[in-house]
Amino acid sequence: MNAHIASTAVMARRIEPGDSLDFFPTPPWATRALCHHVLPRFERRTAEGKFWLTARDPACGEGHMALALAEYFSAVSASDIFPYGYSPSPTVDFLHPECPFVRTDWVITNPPFNLGGAFVKQALRIAARGVAMLVRMQFLEGEGRFADIFRDTPPALIAQFVERVPMHRGRWVVNGTTATAYAWLVWMVNDQPPVDPLFTWIPKSRRALSKPDDWLRFSGCMDLPKEHAAMKALADLERIRAEAGKRSRAPQTAADFRMEALL
Ligand SMILES: C[S@@+](CC[C@H](N)C(=O)[O-])C[C@H]1O[C@@H](n2cnc3c(N)ncnc32)[C@H](O)[C@@H]1O
Repeated sequence: MNAHIASTAVMARRIEPGDSLDFFPTPPWATRALCHHVLPRFERRTAEGKFWLTARDPACGEGHMALALAEYFSAVSASDIFPYGYSPSPTVDFLHPECPFVRTDWVITNPPFNLGGAFVKQALRIAARGVAMLVRMQFLEGEGRFADIFRDTPPALIAQFVERVPMHRGRWVVNGTTATAYAWLVWMVNDQPPVDPLFTWIPKSRRALSKPDDWLRFSGCMDLPKEHAAMKALADLERIRAEAGKRSRAPQTAADFRMEALL
């Protein structure tokens, strides 16, 4: 069973839209891997490892990718078709013909799988320098997608993660696992399309590019069994919170005192 460890992080509560919009938050380390191992092939970084460039995530969800990008870019804007509650982001359908075009150096996102092709095309229209898309490896196959995008506008680089990037619907599971392989695809808009894309591997990054406070900042949750001590403590806390709401009596037992201190 998946149990969420609640956090008071910057992001608001999860509200999964009724009709699925393919909301799969990106683990922060996977975005950092792009900035660390991939983008420096195309853009210069400052001594502090920053790019003096702007970036936009047009399908930002709860802001998991936008927040990580902000660690590297001088300004990051974000929007989504659904109001997940990532505070700076307006609600915008990126594929709407009248979608407001805000020019930005880089458009970087993890697009909904079935709309990936349309996202790439729209992103190439508004990016001043480049586009980076985090996609499942299956995105590279398919006659329709090949004719639609890859034949005339192949990416400059395919950067394959050597390890899995666990992504789950609706939440970032810190200790998640997955059977799906992912890669970053990068296009440079001012260059001639390459005859063939370059290919590289992104080295193991999950441990190296994770930060101790990520689970709190990015609203991470854990897949832990009900019997795990952390889950039992959370269940106790929930029960005592509920009871505290009902009763007006002062705490009476030692356990009450301990738990009251946590409320
Ligand atoms: C795979 S999630 C990526 C979320 C975020 N970029 C991240 O990596 O954590 C795809 C997101 O695309 C959004 N989306 C789907 N269709 C969209 C559209 N037409 N315009 C803008 N956002 C859209 C969904 O609401 C969802 O948040």
